[in-house]
Amino acid sequence: MPIPVVDLFAGPGGLNEGFSRVTDTRGRPVFRTVISVEMDEFAHRTLELRALYRAMKQDGDFADYLTYVRGELTREELFARASALGADAQAEALRATMGASRSGDDEIESRIDSALKNSGGGEFVLIGGPPCQAYSLVGRARRSRESRDQFESDPRQRLYLEYLRIVARFKPAAFLMENVPGLLSAKLEGQSTFAMIRKDLTAAGYDLYALNKGDSLFETDTPDPRAFVVRAEDHGVPQSRSRVFILGLRRDLGLKARRLQPAADTRVFVEEVLRGLPAIRSRVSRRADSPEEWRREVSSLGDYKFPGLDEGMRRLIRAGVAELDSDLPLGRQFIRGEIKPPRLGEWYDSRAVGGVLNHNSRGHMAADLRRYYYWSAYAGVHHRSPSLSEVPAHLRPNHHNVTGDATNLPFADRFRVQIAGRPSTTITSHIAKDGHYYIHFDPQQCRSLSVREAARLQTFPDTYFFEGPITEQYRQVGNAVPPYLARQIGDLVASILHA
Ligand SMILES: C[S@@+](CC[C@H](N)C(=O)[O-])C[C@H]1O[C@@H](n2cnc3c(N)ncnc32)[C@H](O)[C@@H]1O
Repeated sequence: MPIPVVDLFAGPGGLNEGFSRVTDTRGRPVFRTVISVEMDEFAHRTLELRALYRAMKQDGDFADYLTYVRGELTREELFARASALGADAQAEALRATMGASRSGDDEIESRIDSALKNSGGGEFVLIGGPPCQAYSLVGRARRSRESRDQFESDPRQRLYLEYLRIVARFKPAAFLMENVPGLLSAKLEGQSTFAMIRKDLTAAGYDLYALNKGDSLFETDTPDPRAFVVRAEDHGVPQSRSRVFILGLRRDLGLKARRLQPAADTRVFVEEVLRGLPAIRSRVSRRADSPEEWRREVSSLGDYKFPGLDEGMRRLIRAGVAELDSDLPLGRQFIRGEIKPPRLGEWYDSRAVGGVLNHNSRGHMAADLRRYYYWSAYAGVHHRSPSLSEVPAHLRPNHHNVTGDATNLPFADRFRVQIAGRPSTTITSHIAKDGHYYIHFDPQQCRSLSVREAARLQTFPDTYFFEGPITEQYRQVGNAVPPYLARQIGDLVASILHA
């Protein structure tokens, strides 16, 4: 019997996906998510769809799922055709806001209770933890009875208390909390937030462990908070991403913690997981887009004179813009084709889809198109993004239209190319706001990353479909734990529980 998993603050299900892909020596799943809780409409739709996909795959037939994600079936039709599996997926993915009201929290707990009972009532694992803001006022609750009442009236803090309540009431064998590194240094009225969380969870019957350091750090008396930071790039994820993971093991079980081993062949680079995806062009925004308009706008970069630019770059840009291919398609929900990446091909499961999903790219203003072209051409030669002093004046915003040393101006930092031969920088939910930080390394495509490319850097399998408007798809991708890392953490938790 797989170990039941309860997933709170589930987002689009990155952590959940990783745990779901842990298998035993006979290839059978070790974990099974029985309930995931998420408040956001679109992330929840993604979660629910993924729950259905998994059930269909387990059943050996996910043809209807593929028809849906290729845009040839409505969601209602998909769930209706899936009948019992569809209803199970709907029951598994619960859309609810934790900490919003006492009655809402009671309802969530009662759903968790039934999901666990239906799964046989054995030991289970809790994954996901409250977002950082929930801890921001934690200390207040400790000061006095009066402030405790105030504390309980603030939804963010009720969120934290609700999480503790769920741990204390359901007593998972293990829990795994993920957060941003800022959590470790957060202080409230002089007290460390991390120390307070630790105290609360220890009082609930758990010992807390860091995942990725030597055995000595498993001692729980004076843990170095930095030991709790896991770097995704050390675990075969093509992205630099540092996140805090806290593993709690229920003391009475006498479980022995283990260390998360770095991947044997650690570094995976951007190019190694993006190559093979169909080339698409960006769209010109704020005016009628057309292939000719796109080409005209980008090519006008070649007309400029670049004082201070070396001759090699100048020639490269001139030649490159002359060869811009206005026949490149725009991105869309589904593009047919063979898309296996050079690395992690089996993990991405690319062949299953018969093409690429969510390969949408956003529109760019004409001035940004020229910047993207310049930035990516520069990075192709120098293997880094240019600083402001290395950018021709006409590509700077008007108020920075000056020469001299301007390397530290924030504008230069606002644009960044994801260098082909390195892990990417952290994909955050900021990618939903603008793509300046996520410029594709290929100048001929002249755009920021598509949703699928961001998802590849986050190691979501190619069968994973993100629901909602493009901005919401980006937000979901940026919020998630990379599933490939989550699978390794799941392996670790499985080995601890089965030891
Ligand atoms: C960092 S993301 C979680 C990512 C997830 N663990 C994954 O790997 O994909 C945090 C999620 O918590 C959700 N969330 C925030 N506050 C919530 C609340 N009060 N109740 C339920 N979900 C909440 C957000 O909508 C967001 O999707």
